[in-house]
Amino acid sequence: MIIVTGGCGFIGSAFILDWLAQDREPVLNLDLLTYAGHPGNLRTVESHPGYRFVRGDIADSALVGDLLREHRPRAIVHFAAESHVDRSIAGPDAFIQTNVVGTARLLQAAHGYWSRLPAPEASAFRFLNVSTDEVFGSLGPSEPAFSETHPYQPNSPYSASKASADHFARAWCHTFGLPVITTNCSNNYGPRQFPEKLIPLMIHNALAGQPLPVYGDGRQVRDWLHVGDHCSALRAVLERGRPGETYNIGGRSERTNLEVVHTICRVIDEARPGRSHAALVRHVQDRLGHDRRYAIDDSKIAAELGWKPAVTFEQGIRDTVQWYLANGDWVASVTSGAYRRWVEQQYPALHSAA
Ligand code: NAD
Ligand code: DAU
Repeated sequence: MIIVTGGCGFIGSAFILDWLAQDREPVLNLDLLTYAGHPGNLRTVESHPGYRFVRGDIADSALVGDLLREHRPRAIVHFAAESHVDRSIAGPDAFIQTNVVGTARLLQAAHGYWSRLPAPEASAFRFLNVSTDEVFGSLGPSEPAFSETHPYQPNSPYSASKASADHFARAWCHTFGLPVITTNCSNNYGPRQFPEKLIPLMIHNALAGQPLPVYGDGRQVRDWLHVGDHCSALRAVLERGRPGETYNIGGRSERTNLEVVHTICRVIDEARPGRSHAALVRHVQDRLGHDRRYAIDDSKIAAELGWKPAVTFEQGIRDTVQWYLANGDWVASVTSGAYRRWVEQQYPALHSAA
């Protein structure tokens, strides 16, 4: 079996759903259920014989040690994290606790378990550390995309905490021999993404006829990858990736934020004719320390593992808008009082103008 951490979040739940749909081994999902964790994301597999959920903290060494000894996984796929940059600016403590301390404790527990495995199981074991391209910092408009050898230059508390986690993962591999692989992926989008991130926030607000808050000039560039493609890349890395290596994962889809928002508006104009949703765009105060551009050089994963993204940005956005249109119940269930308080705190100008 495998252990997935953070499996009730956006990418972790997509990974578990795909994994079980492909009849692979059983999965144990360890998730603390923070504001970003929604057990309803996995409602369709709740009674699947290959699925088990444990609510708990990756930093709880005793719990993690017990789970490892009891279930003897052949891999840990580590998604659990605080993941939103704006929240890391508003309050970095949780990022330091989960992303840094939590990952270091998880590595320690994994090492304790792995070091007692018989040789064949130990050599087959993998610790897959799911990380981000943000650890590489920001690119100028014509600089080459991030390769795996690009220096780490994290700029936000979020990316600094993920960079720190990556360094601990590297150290546990180098010093103790734990078979760790780290992946650095670009911006994901798709079903079940919490509407604090750009794409689901814009879809949510446009459907509700609310302002679409674009930070600064909106010309910042991100590379966008459909979450299903991220999951297929992670499966390839888990099966064929080399321990001690890192792999960059990207969508070959660089877009400015304004391009993304206008694409979403066009798709929603077609689905809900009668108004131009682009008229809802408002330029608001920029994010502090806002990274200008991310881009991924995916030649290593393409050449070594034969992986490339399958979903185009245009098709992926259409499918994602359709998913949000069809799943109003999910949106209503996650946009609780706590969500409204976050939106009021994060977008004060829009809130006071409303
Ligand atoms: P998310 O915020 O949607 O989900 C995070 C999950 O982790 C939640 O279910 C939460 O309850 C759980 N969690 C948080 N703290 C925990 C703890 N201490 N113990 C156990 N569980 C805990 O995040 P996501 O967008 O699905 O991202 C998953 C991973 O992928 C993160 O490590 C993130 O850094 C990385 N990543 C995300 C993106 C992206 O675009 N979203 C891109 C590249 C990499
Ligand atoms: O690059 C991978 C990273 O992508 C992941 O590691 C992070 O977990 C994930 O949150 C994401 O980080 P970003 O900061 O790039 O994503 P976000 O969706 O928050 O913002 C995308 C861009 O849109 C960024 O330039 C900021 C801008 N933005 C965002 C929001 C929420 C706006 O203009 N307005 C907004 O309201």
